[in-house]
Amino acid sequence: MNYTKPILDIIQERTSSRTYSGQPLEGDLKEKLNKLLENHDYQSPFSKYAEKARFELVNVPEFNPNEKKKLGTYGLIKGAQNFIVGAVEKSKFDREHFGYLMETIILFATDMGLGTCWLGGSFNKTLFAAKIKCSSNEIVPAITSIGYSIQRTVKEKIIRSFVKANKRFSWDRLFFKQEFNTPLFAEEVGDYAELLEMVRLGPSAGNKQPWRIIKDSNKNMFHFYTVKTDSVYGRFPPLDIGIAVCHFDLTAKELGIKGSWIFENPQILGAENLLYKITWNGDNK
Ligand SMILES: Cc1cc2nc3c(=O)[nH]c(=O)nc-3n(C[C@H](O)[C@H](O)[C@H](O)COP(=O)(O)O)c2cc1C
Repeated sequence: MNYTKPILDIIQERTSSRTYSGQPLEGDLKEKLNKLLENHDYQSPFSKYAEKARFELVNVPEFNPNEKKKLGTYGLIKGAQNFIVGAVEKSKFDREHFGYLMETIILFATDMGLGTCWLGGSFNKTLFAAKIKCSSNEIVPAITSIGYSIQRTVKEKIIRSFVKANKRFSWDRLFFKQEFNTPLFAEEVGDYAELLEMVRLGPSAGNKQPWRIIKDSNKNMFHFYTVKTDSVYGRFPPLDIGIAVCHFDLTAKELGIKGSWIFENPQILGAENLLYKITWNGDNK
């Protein structure tokens, strides 16, 4: 997939849009998006342990009037006429894989000047799953609204202030070295600072930012974890970590930082309340 702008700019430009013009996507833009969804390679660092994923552009005007009332976006999303709906076959890292892929698409939409909003909870799963003919071995972990965003309504501003959408945790709460009570600082990691910063700026469900990353002592090896949670947000960290890995991976590619994604089981002090996911093994040790 080719972005027209630097990925660092696109990541910083993206914010959730919940207020749209009411105009459906048409013409070249719609065609471009459909082509992207058809031709995307749908590979991610989780591909080894994840089955097939697919994404479709769904048009609200095609729902019948009764269905339109039941989209389940509960007035949170206003004026959206299109959604991207994805499905992934059930597998070990299905949600992580899905999170990575959906975010590559969302960044592409941002690059095209379109507004989006990840929706993992506020949508009618049954209705959207039926729309893309989801089979019994597939799940639909999330969708995104997509369209021409307009000025935020007061309601949208309230939602944003409720989840502190403009804020992110500082580095010392997210990134560590050797063990989980030793914070890692940007000055210590050279070019990797930009990769981690792009992770930090990523969206997450309820803006919970459940990702924690620890750097191995003398190597450019970064282990990615999520915080364990039993709250209502419990099913979202796998999607959120997919997004974090997406931002890290795309930024590494853009900056020419070489390495590979591996799965290990690092034994790290202080990881009791965390779930290990994946490791970046940088070439420049
Ligand atoms: C996996 C995931 C699920 C989300 N689900 C919802 C949702 O159901 N409803 C909603 O209004 N926003 C949802 N969001 C949007 C987040 O609230 C938003 O990304 C976060 O507050 C940060 O704000 P920003 O996207 O503007 O940077 C979701 C985001 C992610 C990443």
